[in-house]
Order: sequence, then C-alpha cells, then structure tokens
Amino acid sequence: MADSLLITGAAQLLTLGGRGPRRGDSLSNLGLIKDGALLVRDGLIAAVGPRAEVEKLPEARAAEKLDLGGRVALPGFVDSHTHLVHAASRAEEYELKIAGASYEEIARKGGGILNSVKKLRAASGEALKKRALAALKQFAAYGTTTVEAKSGYGLEVASELKILRLHKELAAEQPLEMVSTFLGAHVVPAEFRGKSGGAERYIKLIEENLLPHIGENRLAEFCDVFCDRGAFSVEQSKRVLQAGRQWGLAPRVHAEQLSRTGAARLAILMRAASCDHLEQVNKSDIRTLGKSETVATLLPGCDFHLGLKEYAPARALIRAGAIVALATDYNPGTSPTLSMPMILSLACTQLRMTPAEGITAATINGAYALRREKTIGSLEVGKQADIAVFEVADYREIPYYFGVNHCWMTVKRGRVIHAAEQVPI
Ligand code: NIG
Ligand code: FE
Repeated sequence: MADSLLITGAAQLLTLGGRGPRRGDSLSNLGLIKDGALLVRDGLIAAVGPRAEVEKLPEARAAEKLDLGGRVALPGFVDSHTHLVHAASRAEEYELKIAGASYEEIARKGGGILNSVKKLRAASGEALKKRALAALKQFAAYGTTTVEAKSGYGLEVASELKILRLHKELAAEQPLEMVSTFLGAHVVPAEFRGKSGGAERYIKLIEENLLPHIGENRLAEFCDVFCDRGAFSVEQSKRVLQAGRQWGLAPRVHAEQLSRTGAARLAILMRAASCDHLEQVNKSDIRTLGKSETVATLLPGCDFHLGLKEYAPARALIRAGAIVALATDYNPGTSPTLSMPMILSLACTQLRMTPAEGITAATINGAYALRREKTIGSLEVGKQADIAVFEVADYREIPYYFGVNHCWMTVKRGRVIHAAEQVPI
C-alpha cells in the first residue's frame, strides 16, 4: 500500500510552479492557489491544485489527512550557502566591529576565518556534531528543508576531512537534505602564510592531498573558493576550481564581496553553479550575469551583521535578467543567522526585492543554485513534498514580520519534521 497524505487548508498555497530558473518578471510569479491542497505519495507530490479538485481523487479519500487550518504554505526554503560546521561564535569580534574595526582589519590581526580555524581544529568531532545538529533543528524550525554546507574552517587535511565526513553523517542521521561543498580554498592557513610560495604550496596540498580523497569518497558535490582580496586571486581560484572539477566537484565561488576582483566573471567562465555575495559587482558584471546560467546568490545577512551600507545591487541584477537567489550564509564571522524569513525581511527592506521575488529567490532559484531543481524548490507533481507552513494570512507577512518566527510547520519528503507549539499571531 502506498503511503498517501492529503494536505488541505492552505489559504494560500505558493506552488512556484513553472519552467526554468526565474529571471526578471518571472521572479514575481508564485503560482498562488487559493484554498490549495496537495496529495503526497511516498514523500513525493502526486497531485496539487485547488482543494475541490484534489479532494475528489480516489486516492485522496483513503489518504491520511493533514489540515493546515487556513495558513500559508510554500516550498521549504532551499538555503544554498551556509558554513554549517563551525566550533563557536566570534562574539568577541562583534564588539570590535561595533567599535569601528573592519572585517578585513580583524582578519589581518589573526581574527576572522583564522580565528574560527583555530577553534575548529581544537574542537572534538562530538562537539562539532552536537552544534551542527542543534543548528539543523533550528533551520527546520524556520522553514528550511535543504541546507548546503561548506567546509573551510579546517584548512588542513585531517580537519577538512573531519568536516566533510560530518556532512555525510548529518545527511544520514537527521531529516534535512544536506549538500556538501568543499571550501579548502577559504583562506591560506597560518602555517603557510608569510612564507615564500606559501599560497601555492597550500593549493598544491588541496590538489594532491585533499581533492583525490574527497573525489574518491564522494565527500562533496561542489568545490567553492573565496576569491577576494586577502584570500585567493582569480588565477589561484581558477586552479582550485579546475582541480575540483577533475574530481567531479562542480564549481561555485564567493565573489566580489570585499573588492571587485573579476571573481564573478571567473564563475561564469567556469560555468559555476553560483557566484555568491556580489556586493562589489560593476555594471558590466551585472550585464554578464544577466545573460548567464550561473545563479547570482545574494547574502544580505552579511552586510546587515557587519553594519555595512552597501548591499548587492539586487534590482539591477533582476533588471538585467540574472537568476537571483537568496541564502543565509550562516557562519560565525559575517552572518550568524539561520533564519531564511529574516533574510527575506532584509531582501525586502535593503535589497528592495518584493516579498514574491524574495520567496522565489529563496526556493526555486536556490534549488537551481544547488542543481536540484528537478527534485526540490517548488510544489509540483513528481517533486519532493518539502513544505513550510506559516502562521500568517498573506505570504507578504512572512518578510513583513521580522525577528519573530512565524513558521508553524515544516514537512520534508512528506514527513512532519517540525511543528511549533506556539506561534505568534
Ligand atoms: O561568506 N567570505 C568568506 N566567507 C564567509 C565568512 C567566513 C568567516 O568570516 O568566518 C562569508 O562571508
Ligand atoms: Fe560564505
């Protein structure tokens, strides 16, 4: 007997149905069904439409029932950029930043990413797992059903592999879908710095001692690089991404965050799945991104946390036709949040995206950024029943209320993985 579930009572069901990644005006098309319903079979969507139509299917009558009570339902958020596994916060740097120190100044003094590297190397596997599991529970509580996770706080063979193996364990042991990314080229680690040819020697270690093992053991799907001032140059990044590709890892790039380096162009040239950040892109980058298949992932949590005024030019990117996605960039240095609804609030007020554009960027376009558009990101027949339900009367209230969690229920592959005891109205 198939395991069927009939979900009714969605006052607004945002299906995000349609073809291709959403660009320009199509970012506003939510495929909204009033009083919508879903029939789920074995974790996949078997039917979707107005309640009257779905309810009369013979299979629907025999199915288990779930009534959403007039709430708003949408595809679970696809958070396509996180640094999930880290050992601790960097609250000590937060105060320095508030007092006026820049992110790069702190990094130059051995803080920043290297601070997190020190903490991760000293942490036990058990402690890292406990922290990551607690975070994943919270991701689910905010309506996220798929999380990309990057390594990059190990920066030595044993510690990078420790993180990537943990991604695999987490994927097997808890309900959220995990997408593993190798970010060995986050920064040059302390033991290679200030030595002649240090960066080159570290890249060699990535190529010879890390990537073969990662490729053979399928520890990551993607290879990322932080291509920026103070991290890796365009040439060095290209070398790492090419090496990653040889081991079957598709490229993605941290691009144009602190300075304009040409990283976005490199991403496009390499046919990367996404280039992320983009605060510093110039007009010609925007035009090129508008025509490319590489997703432009915006991370407004970083600028908010760092207290910066300059956000990525979302409106210009949308006007140019770029495939704009949104993600949390959950990490201890620039964006310590795992709340996609908060990112939607920032997208609306700071990036001037509409609530509809934001939701599209956080669901179906996020799925494109992870090359998972065939299975997640929209509520269409054949896709996974990954659903976030919000205690609101209108989808625009999801970003409108900020800093308070209105997520009422989260469903992954047809199973309830989070149910709130009490949600503010
Ligand atoms: O996406 N920019 C590089 N990586 C992270 C920050 C990492 C950190 O500061 O720990 C980011 O912003
Ligand atoms: Fe990042």
